[in-house]
Amino acid sequence: MSKTLIIAIDGPAAAGKSTIARSIAERLGFTYIDSGAMYRAIALWALRLSIPPDDMHKLEQLAKEARIEFAPGQRVLLNGEDVTTAIREPRVSEAASQVAACPGVRSALRAEQRRIGQKGPAVMEGRDIGTVVFPDARLKIYLDATPEVRARRRAAESGVPSDEVAREIAERDQRDRTRAEAPLSQAPDAEYLDSSRMTPHEVEEAILKLVRARTSNGKGHGA
Ligand code: CDP
Repeated sequence: MSKTLIIAIDGPAAAGKSTIARSIAERLGFTYIDSGAMYRAIALWALRLSIPPDDMHKLEQLAKEARIEFAPGQRVLLNGEDVTTAIREPRVSEAASQVAACPGVRSALRAEQRRIGQKGPAVMEGRDIGTVVFPDARLKIYLDATPEVRARRRAAESGVPSDEVAREIAERDQRDRTRAEAPLSQAPDAEYLDSSRMTPHEVEEAILKLVRARTSNGKGHGA
């Protein structure tokens, strides 16, 4: 059976998905898509317009109207504006998981994610890529790590104290896991990887090994 040439990497907050997905994409020459950045961009726009997180109608309108682009150098553009830094603020992280519970937002962004994925081979990371967006992805990874390790890693990269980060990601994971629409969960056919005691290089090698095993005759895609 021919499957979409998508590598789906899902998992909870700060599990290291971005770092790994980016380097895997680079090694394979695939496009890298950070689906979380799209939810963050909608959340940023909603915050700026003071749209409450429960105004499903307005949020859906925003998601339909938003022009989100991925520019060279991992830049994220919202309606032509570079929002790469702004979408990483802690208040945007929280708002992103709130707007991500809105079915209208999800369906607008899902359509866009599928459109991008159909253009060519891609590594896409998020929460529902293997379960909902690309259920026929060639390879699905569920990348996990203990809450302590994830909080420590995010604190180190953001400069926010570890206990504060731990509270923020626990709250966000809880919301992402329990929402009605496309909750965070491991697809039955996903490979589970616990990166708590692994270096990024080890995680990358483990995934590339899986890629090679799934690629026809073990050839191709530079893996
Ligand atoms: O980088 P981090 O793991 O902190 O989060 P992210 O991937 O940037 O995603 C931010 C938020 O967007 C998540 O907490 C989810 O609520 C939402 N999200 C989602 O619902 N579905 C996706 N495919 C990706 C992100």
